[in-house]
Amino acid sequence: MDSPFEVLGVDPDADEAAVDRAYRRRVIETHPDQGGSVRAFRRVKTAYERIQAGYEPEESAPVEPTADESADAGDSDETEPAAEPDPTVDPDVGSRVEYLDYEVAVDQGWSLSDPELFDRAAAADLPTHVYGRFLAQPDETLLEAAEERGFAWPFACRGGACANCAVLVYDGELATPNDHILDDDLGERGFRLSCIASPVSAVLQVVFNVKHVPELEELLLPADRFDRRHR
Ligand code: FES
Repeated sequence: MDSPFEVLGVDPDADEAAVDRAYRRRVIETHPDQGGSVRAFRRVKTAYERIQAGYEPEESAPVEPTADESADAGDSDETEPAAEPDPTVDPDVGSRVEYLDYEVAVDQGWSLSDPELFDRAAAADLPTHVYGRFLAQPDETLLEAAEERGFAWPFACRGGACANCAVLVYDGELATPNDHILDDDLGERGFRLSCIASPVSAVLQVVFNVKHVPELEELLLPADRFDRRHR
């Protein structure tokens, strides 16, 4: 059976940057939108996560798809399980998510560091596709929650590799089990990938569509490499 390094196509002694590059390349190659399968896509994700968790080459356990992965091979609608919910989230209620479109903030001349950013948005009579609130359940990623409520937030890979789905957490917490590409500085500043992050606070304020923040643009993989429908 292939080791995680073999799944990604890198040497066991490859450095972190090489592993990251290999992961992003393999995500594109195996993505269901590119003719790959959910099984292959998840196998790549699992391999990368094992390396991130400290996998040693002499480890004997092979990269095997989980029972869940095996069951849904060929089903492109399935997604990774979300993070365990934090006890601060009432599972009967969920997290109250307040959202704002980054482009609207830019158009309005609002700074992302403005402590009254969301007060300004609430007072601006904005349409609901750019500002509003919804409830997210603990077993959903933020991107899934937005889509379930009818919003078309940016995304591409759905695997934490392309940065198109990035959001900025203004208040509250989003748990990200395995953040593949955002460095510590971006993480500390509150950037998260909504395709793999789940709300773990009862109240959450996020600025979505932040992929054009200059620090993130260099991490972007073009969305049209996954599906031309994605923006
Ligand atoms: Fe690619 Fe989230 S959609 S990182």
